[in-house]
Amino acid sequence: MAKTVVHYLCRSCGGVQSRWMGKCPDCGTWDALEKYTEPKVKAGAGQSGDGGLIEIWAGGDDGPATGAARAAAIPLPDIVAADVARQPTGIGEFDRVLGGGLVTGSVVLLGGAPGIGKSTLMLQAAAILAARGRRVLYVTSEESAYQTKLRAERLFENDGAEASMSELYVLADTNLARIVEQARKVRPAVTVIDSIQMVYKPDVEAAPGAVAQVRRCCTELVCLAKISGMAIVLVGHVTKDGQIAGPKLLEHLVDVVLSFEGDRHLAHRVVRGIKNRYGTTLEVGLFEMTGRGLKELTDAAMIDPAARPQPGSVICPAMHGTRCLLVEMQALTATGFLGSAKRRTSGVDANRLAMLIAVLEKHGGLRLADQDVFASAVGGLKVVEPAADLALALAIAGAHYRRALDPGTAVIGEVGLGGEIRPVHQVEQRIREARRRGFRTLIVPSDGGFVSDGELVVHPARTIGVAVDMLTACASTSGPPRPGGVAS
Ligand code: TYD
Ligand code: MG
Repeated sequence: MAKTVVHYLCRSCGGVQSRWMGKCPDCGTWDALEKYTEPKVKAGAGQSGDGGLIEIWAGGDDGPATGAARAAAIPLPDIVAADVARQPTGIGEFDRVLGGGLVTGSVVLLGGAPGIGKSTLMLQAAAILAARGRRVLYVTSEESAYQTKLRAERLFENDGAEASMSELYVLADTNLARIVEQARKVRPAVTVIDSIQMVYKPDVEAAPGAVAQVRRCCTELVCLAKISGMAIVLVGHVTKDGQIAGPKLLEHLVDVVLSFEGDRHLAHRVVRGIKNRYGTTLEVGLFEMTGRGLKELTDAAMIDPAARPQPGSVICPAMHGTRCLLVEMQALTATGFLGSAKRRTSGVDANRLAMLIAVLEKHGGLRLADQDVFASAVGGLKVVEPAADLALALAIAGAHYRRALDPGTAVIGEVGLGGEIRPVHQVEQRIREARRRGFRTLIVPSDGGFVSDGELVVHPARTIGVAVDMLTACASTSGPPRPGGVAS
């Protein structure tokens, strides 16, 4: 009998301890250590940590999948391009975040809250890949195969795609050994495991979803992806504080970590790259949940330049990776208590908000010390770049004075502590995007040397005071007139 070694794994950070403690010494979480019994590895077996899965994979009639299991070192120039061949999923917004598609032999972890649409997204991607002749194995460990079929029928009814879906294989199982056995028979190009928390290995003494199980299954699937060359997508649920179970260990094991975010009660969804060994993590993919699955969202659908802005709402062209998106920054001020006024944010940096409030008080003539201030970036996007400072500051001032900018106005600029408006990077691209989307008036930093032309009216602003004056001078007001005593 192999001797067993007992460890304690932290459910939050994945840290390994030799004895139980009430508080994890690595991340400080209380009551998070779980007992984990690891059987001692037999001499000569599973040296790569595969725990027998490689044997299962290589054990069929068709022999070892590739020679990769015993790969020899080769000079860099001899590595063929096919080693990082990408398979576009056919969902443009998803491919954008992946960096062009699923890379052969890579493991992608897609995390998100329950009910956000992870299964829907992966089933849609799987169906498109299958329709293009790529074989996909969709392992559904939470739903039955029939439920998956019903969902696929609902997603693709009237598409006539049913006939071309013979390359989409569905397996309802949770035992990892059986899943690998089926993958060996089916030989898919892409395997989706929905979800990693439900998959288990019987030889690990822990319940499915426990850190020990998730870690072990994930490690073995990474090995499997490397030796078999298939791309594996792991779907993972996040905990209530937004982390994938055992996040640190899963994140360093896999090649790509994507986070599927958005409010379950709103239609908009955002896929964001957290880690990507094959591309940038700056890109975001935008989706809308409709009655027939996720629809790619062209950002044009989100903001109408002709709509009359509400006081406290300002449009800002913000960069997300290589792409410029128009984002609505919103603010609300409400009567609070001097000394304990609330400042709350959603999709906006809280420290940045505090700084902008201070600058508005000092240099913009606003008195906000006894006002609760709430700020958000609308549509589930996160806007943390300084280029959105001026838009947020004007949203706060607009909310305070109940003034709105004229329709079709977009605002660009970083706000300095001295109240000056500083130039931002990629300003030409931002202006081009605002113009393309029908915005005809721009408030920009005065340093850029931008001038109005026949189509576009440019208002350079040198200081926050000047910008607030432009706002309060706007003809469009709604609600009561602005209180007196506005300093410039
Ligand atoms: P699901 O993909 O099951 O979420 P997850 O796998 O992340 O837990 O879908 C979540 C929600 O999406 C579900 O509550 C119903 C809704 N939905 C639609 O609105 N339209 C659709 O076409 C589908 C398939 C689901
Ligand atoms: Mg699901």
